[in-house]
Amino acid sequence: MTVSVQVDRLSKRYGATVALDGIDLQIRQGEFFGLLGPNGAGKSTLINILAGLVRADAGTARIMGHEVWADYRRARRCIGVVPQELVFDPFFTVREVLRIQSGYFGLGRENDPWLEELLHELHLADKADTNMRALSGGMKRRVLIAQALVHRPPVVVLDEPTAGVDVEIRNLLWQFIRRLHAEGHTILLTTHYLEEAESMCQRIAILDRGRIVALDSKERLLASTLGGLVHVRLTCATPLTTVPPALAGKVRRCEGNVLELDLEQGADSILEVLEILRDAGITLTDLHTERADLEDVFMELTYGRRGYRQGSGSPGNENHGEEQSP
Ligand SMILES: Nc1ncnc2c1ncn2[C@@H]1O[C@H](COP(=O)(O)OP(=O)(O)OP(=O)(O)O)[C@@H](O)[C@H]1O
Ligand SMILES: [Mg+2]
Repeated sequence: MTVSVQVDRLSKRYGATVALDGIDLQIRQGEFFGLLGPNGAGKSTLINILAGLVRADAGTARIMGHEVWADYRRARRCIGVVPQELVFDPFFTVREVLRIQSGYFGLGRENDPWLEELLHELHLADKADTNMRALSGGMKRRVLIAQALVHRPPVVVLDEPTAGVDVEIRNLLWQFIRRLHAEGHTILLTTHYLEEAESMCQRIAILDRGRIVALDSKERLLASTLGGLVHVRLTCATPLTTVPPALAGKVRRCEGNVLELDLEQGADSILEVLEILRDAGITLTDLHTERADLEDVFMELTYGRRGYRQGSGSPGNENHGEEQSP
């Protein structure tokens, strides 16, 4: 097995903020790997360290065996990073931006056919001679992707590549990223669209407050974290004032007429639940069941670990990841 990305005991602080707290990670060559986590979890910090843009306080990171800080040039040749932030020199055209980036890797006009192919694949050909400042956000994001690929790096890292991108372009980007993966590139992806991660990634790490709280194939994450939970959403004829004690441990949400339960597949019986409700004099008008998905795993491992459950006072705070544990 060839390892593309090897991270050992990686730590990074910003003043009192612990952005990464001793991360270990191995991504295999050719793998499609997802890095998930709430805002402020440390995802971009990790990616910026892999890109050589930020220096870790402790630990090491290697790309295709090259240590990113000690052996920066070799490591940098092996990795293409699409950053989360849209930063460009506004005075260059799209094609110029790509040619300049090519030049950083010692590539001259012989690389032009590849740059044209990238422009074509990312539907930027008609914008090639447009100045960066005249592009929309979604177009700039696509230029960032092309820029990351000018030197055909074996490892491609995408930090929220579909943020602020419309549905049509998002689908186009997914096709393109799938193609890169099919051609043998190792992909490391962060996204807040969990359904994207669920459909694309082979293994997933969930980062929370600078630590990896789960790392496994998505199938095993679903099975081990939630053990085949089934969500049941019940709508009652009248608002619920109390939940029958026999169901108390299974309540995910209880609000107005709606009662949501987490049932364990095999162990809990929906018929029993219906009997308990009937015995309590509760009349149902609707029932809906659904299997747990990656979003449930994510909520359980991040907010759930902090004592929040969905519907029981979600933090609803963009900066919650910045809280420091004592
Ligand atoms: N340059 C910096 N200076 C100070 N603090 C920083 C800096 N960069 C990141 N941080 C802090 O480090 C923590 C991790 O930030 P990071 O950007 O890695 O999170 P993230 O997981 O990428 O979040 P998001 O989903 O919002 O992109 C946060 O608390 C953030 O405020
Ligand atoms: Mg980020």
